[in-house]
Amino acid sequence: MNWENKIATTLQWSSEISNKEQKEKVAQKVAERVKDGDVIGVGSGSTSFLALQAISEKVKVEGLNVLAIPTSHEVSLTCSILGIPTTTLLNAKPDWAFDGADEVDPNKSLIKGRGGAMFAEKIVMKSSSENYILVDQSKFVSKLGEKFAVPVEVDPRAVNLVEVELDKLGATEVNLRLAVSKDGPVLTEAGNIILDVRFKEIPNSYEKEIKSIPGVIETGLFVGFPVEILSV
Ligand code: A5P
Repeated sequence: MNWENKIATTLQWSSEISNKEQKEKVAQKVAERVKDGDVIGVGSGSTSFLALQAISEKVKVEGLNVLAIPTSHEVSLTCSILGIPTTTLLNAKPDWAFDGADEVDPNKSLIKGRGGAMFAEKIVMKSSSENYILVDQSKFVSKLGEKFAVPVEVDPRAVNLVEVELDKLGATEVNLRLAVSKDGPVLTEAGNIILDVRFKEIPNSYEKEIKSIPGVIETGLFVGFPVEILSV
């Protein structure tokens, strides 16, 4: 039997999607890559949301069998509404994966995590030997940190220690990400909090240096991943 209630059958995005036309065009581009039998790692965010819709169209029209590995509840819900079966990294390795980004620099290093899913996104990206990053033109920057702060996922017990250590590293601003439809901080799917951190400069070494602070679970810096950028 299938669920027929509203939540199980209605695609929803939490806010207005910025640069939607460009994102839809990139979504079409990634859908063209889908082949029968693919296991696909699926990043989170609005671009991935649109890409899943384009992929589900292709899957239906061509009668393909694919499996998705979601990086968030948001993606799991979307896959379920679209009828795309899902699996996990425990059961399968992605043939390829796609994701969005908040910033892309000329070396294809990324800031990710506006949606708070960077921990799972990095695990899936590292598990996949082929990765496509889908971006509209607004995402290209000459250096990381130009527009976005770096999200840092932190075990709540370590928040003070991590703030102090980030200050030592040269952070110019450290903000606790606060929830909009809930009191208090945003909690990630792993029950952690997010600090949004600004720096004057972001050397490549920061991805590892921040990660080495006890209590830091993951950062939104993605440096040196072999990714292919798909844009319009
Ligand atoms: C999710 O946590 C993020 O890493 C997104 O992939 C990133 O913020 C891009 O989001 P949009 O596709 O909504 O611009």
